[in-house]
This record gives sequence, C-alpha cells and structure tokens, in this order.
Amino acid sequence: MSDGSETSGVAAPSAAASAPLLSIRGLSKYFGPVRALTKVDLEVPAGKVTALSGDNGAGKSVLIKTISGLWQPDGGEIFWEGRRVHLTGPRDAEALGITTIYQDLALCDNLDIVQNMFLGHERLRRRLLNEGSMEKTARETLESLHVTTVRSVRQKVESLSGGQRQSVAVAKAVMKQSKLVIMDEPTAALGVTQTAMVLELIGRLASQGVAVILISHNLNDVFQAADRIAVLYLGRMVAVGPKDQFDRTSVVEYMTAGTSSRGSSRELGSALAGTGGS
Ligand SMILES: Nc1ncnc2c1ncn2[C@@H]1O[C@H](COP(=O)(O)OP(=O)(O)OP(=O)(O)O)[C@@H](O)[C@H]1O
Ligand SMILES: [Mg+2]
Repeated sequence: MSDGSETSGVAAPSAAASAPLLSIRGLSKYFGPVRALTKVDLEVPAGKVTALSGDNGAGKSVLIKTISGLWQPDGGEIFWEGRRVHLTGPRDAEALGITTIYQDLALCDNLDIVQNMFLGHERLRRRLLNEGSMEKTARETLESLHVTTVRSVRQKVESLSGGQRQSVAVAKAVMKQSKLVIMDEPTAALGVTQTAMVLELIGRLASQGVAVILISHNLNDVFQAADRIAVLYLGRMVAVGPKDQFDRTSVVEYMTAGTSSRGSSRELGSALAGTGGS
C-alpha cells in the first residue's frame, strides 16, 4: 500500500480532516468480459450507516471485496481520510482500520467468545495467556455495545444464537478499533427479534463514530438502520444520498431498473459527483 501522487486526471483531495473517511472514484472491476463494476463513485462518512443495496449480481460483493483489498480494481481510485491508497491485500485494508464481516462470520464454533475475540491477538502475561485481562475487555466491549443477552463470555460460540454471533463479530471489530465496519447481509439468517438487536447494534456502532457499510436486500433493514443509501445496478452506482431522499418505491425502482420515476436528479447527481451530502 502506498500513497499515490499520481491522480490520472482527478483532483486529489487534500488530506483535510473534513475529507470523508472513505472515498471511491471511478472504480471499475472486470472479470474477463463481465463488467462487475463500472466507474463506481461512493463516499462513506464516519459515524454514519451507509446501506449498499442492489439486486443479485449488481456488484455489491465485488465492491466490498475491492474495498477490503481482496480484489485489485482495474480502474479508479480509493481515498482513505483524503489520501490516495493502493490496497494490495486484505492486510492493507485491515491496517487502515477496515473490518469486513462476511456472511459466514469466520468465528470458530468450538472456541468461546473471549477466545474468538482475541484469536491471533492473545494477551500474554509472563508468557501465559492473560485470561483475566482478555475476559474483562471482551465483557466491557460487549457492554459498551449494550449486548446484554449473552450469559457468559466463556460460552462457546456454537451455543449462541445467530444474532449473538453477529454481536460477537461486531464486538471483535470494535475491539480492533476499526474505523470502517462492512457487514454483508448481517440479518439474512435472523428472526425478527434478533434482526432488531443487530440493527440496534449497527446504530450504536455508528454513534461511536465508526463508519458502517451495510449490505442488504431488505428494505426494512435499510430504512431502519441507514443514514445514507447507495444503490448499484448492473455494476453502476445509480443512486446515492441521504435516506430522506428515497422512499421504498424509489429504492426498488433503482434496484430493478436502474432508474426511478420518483427519483430526483439530485440523487443521481450526488452519485456522479460522489458527494451525497451528510
Ligand atoms: N470471481 C468472479 N469471477 C467472475 N465473475 C464474477 C466473480 N465475482 C463476481 N462476478 C460477477 O460480477 C458481478 C457482480 O457480482 P457480485 O457478487 O458482486 O453481486 P452481488 O451484488 O453481491 O449479488 P448478490 O446479491 O447475489 O450477492 C456478477 O455478474 C458476477 O457474476
Ligand atoms: Mg453478494
């Protein structure tokens, strides 16, 4: 990863504090003849939930995998806190403070909550695991997120409900002091109560100043949890803006047709300019 000075015709924003946490300009990604992403612009501000929506195959996963360093873009630029970055692998994204929670969560069923949260980053004291310290931090992190339904942090993850597992994955991201947490369909496998719990957790994460990208097909989730909405259609960003610029019908129209009879040109204009307001 390096800060590029070359900007291929696009003015590089200064590394001012006012720059959005993440800014994507003209991002393209091809797989042979398949144009998975075409000149995608998106700004992701800190402390807000940005919902990323779009039909199957629209490019949501490819976009987040590119932001997570798994794919290298074929064109376009990524700015982090106003500085251009080149992500050559997932470690580069992690080093910036980007955590991606994929649908399978990557938790180990046979380990308990503390072991999962500290996997690969165990705390030692006199060459032994400092269980007390890790347990305390795990408990405090869950408490800070108001996760109250977990009975013991020494419970194995296999004994947790889907919503509790999501909570552990989120707490792990919080503990790593992530600046951007990307969640891929976090409520897809959850019932009503657990969905509400995870959406609440997402809101709390944003209120702590973390930027969240929430990938979701579910309009209830989108309208409940998001501050901003971005819609991909066949690899193009067709609408971006604050939630109040949308209603359910317009989001469905953008998702299924790439345009909306109700949509204002402001939305599309925002998407193209990459500046969607707050
Ligand atoms: N590794 C790959 N090789 C070839 N084509 C791919 C690859 N990954 C994605 N694609 C293609 O890129 C396009 C976007 O796929 P993507 O997985 O991003 O869709 P999505 O919006 O996440 O859809 P879903 O809602 O079904 O998860 C699709 O046409 C898909 O077939
Ligand atoms: Mg996907």
